[in-house]
Amino acid sequence: MIAEKLAKKFVTKKRVGLLRSHVEIVEALRGVSLRVRTGEVVGLLGPNGAGKTTTIKILSTLLLPDSGYASIYGYDVVREASEVRKLIGIMLTVEKGFYGRLTGRENLIYFGSLYGMEKQELEKRIDYLLDLVGLKELGGVDRLYEEYSLGMRARLALARALLKDPPVLLLDEPTLGLDPPSARRIRSLVRELASREGKSILYTSHNMFEVELVCDRVVLINKGVVAAEGTPEELKSKLPDVRTIEVYLKQLPEGLTEEMRKHGLEVREQNQAQDGLYVFKVLTRRPNEVVSDIMKLAVSKGADIVRIKIEEPTLEDVFVYFTERGVKD
Ligand SMILES: Nc1ncnc2c1ncn2[C@@H]1O[C@H](COP(=O)(O)OP(=O)(O)OP(=O)(O)O)[C@@H](O)[C@H]1O
Ligand SMILES: [Mg+2]
Repeated sequence: MIAEKLAKKFVTKKRVGLLRSHVEIVEALRGVSLRVRTGEVVGLLGPNGAGKTTTIKILSTLLLPDSGYASIYGYDVVREASEVRKLIGIMLTVEKGFYGRLTGRENLIYFGSLYGMEKQELEKRIDYLLDLVGLKELGGVDRLYEEYSLGMRARLALARALLKDPPVLLLDEPTLGLDPPSARRIRSLVRELASREGKSILYTSHNMFEVELVCDRVVLINKGVVAAEGTPEELKSKLPDVRTIEVYLKQLPEGLTEEMRKHGLEVREQNQAQDGLYVFKVLTRRPNEVVSDIMKLAVSKGADIVRIKIEEPTLEDVFVYFTERGVKD
C-alpha cells in the first residue's frame, strides 16, 4: 500500500450569527506519503483532526484526493477503485450499514452475498470468523445487531472486514471505547493477521500503549503533514537528549505548577496517581538542572516530594514532542 503526497481540502460552511454563514476551507491533508509493506502493521497516529480518517477513506476509495497518488497492490485507488475494493477490508469508527433488525450472522450473510460470495463457502467463512472474533463465546451470533454492545459491534465489524479474506486491512480506531478483553482480542488478532497471514494493515489509535504492542512502524501526522515516522524505538531515539522527569508529591501546593511554568519548565501532565500521590511530568534536555529547579521551587512552596524519576521518553512523549511546541531549551 502506497500513498504519495496525498492532499485533500474540504469546503465547509461556518455559521456566523443566526442567518449568515461563510465558506471555510479546511486543508485536511497537505501531502501525506506513507507505505505499508506485506505483513506489516503501520500505526497512523496524530491528534484529533490531523487527517487520519481522511487518509484511510482515500485509501479505501470512499473519498477522492484532490492531488497525489495512492495504490494498493499496484492498483490506483482513483482509477482502479473496483479492483482496490476487492483487496481491502475496512473498519471505520462510525460503522454504517449493519442492519439492526438482523442478527450478527444474518448481517454477515447479507454482506457476503453482496460481495458475490458463494453460499457454502460464505457459511463456512462466517462460522470461522464469528469464532475468531469471539462473538460465539459472547453469545452474539444469533442476537439482533441493535442489541449489540459496543464491543460486539466492533467484533462484527472486524469479521465483516475479513469476510473476503483481503490482503489489506484499513482499521480506523478499531478498539475505540472497548473494554480491556475486547481491545486485547482485537489487538492480538491484528498482530496475528499480519505476522501469520502476511496481511498489510494500516491502523489508527490514540492509545500509545496499544500502538507499541501492535505496530511495527508508526507514521505520525499533524495538521495534514507527516511529522515523524519510524519504529517506536526509532522515534524515541529521535529525541536523543530528552528525558522525562516524573515528580511525585504528597500534596500539590497551590500555584506550584504555575510557578514552575513561570520559570520556563514545561509541566506536561498533572494527575493524582493510584497511591493517592500527586504526579506531574516535565520534559527537558537538561535533567540535572531541571531536577534541582523543581526541588527548589517545591521546597519554597512547602511541597512534600516523595520521589523523582528520570526516564527515557515514552511513545506518548514522542507524540507530544512532534505535535506540540517541542521541548524548550
Ligand atoms: N466531510 C468533511 N467536511 C469538512 N471537513 C471535514 C470533513 N471530514 C473531515 N474534515 C476535516 O478534516 C480534518 C481532518 O479530519 P480527520 O477526520 O481526517 O481527522 P482524524 O485525524 O481522523 O481525527 P480524529 O483523531 O479526531 O479521528 C479536520 O479538520 C476535519 O474537521
Ligand atoms: Mg478519525
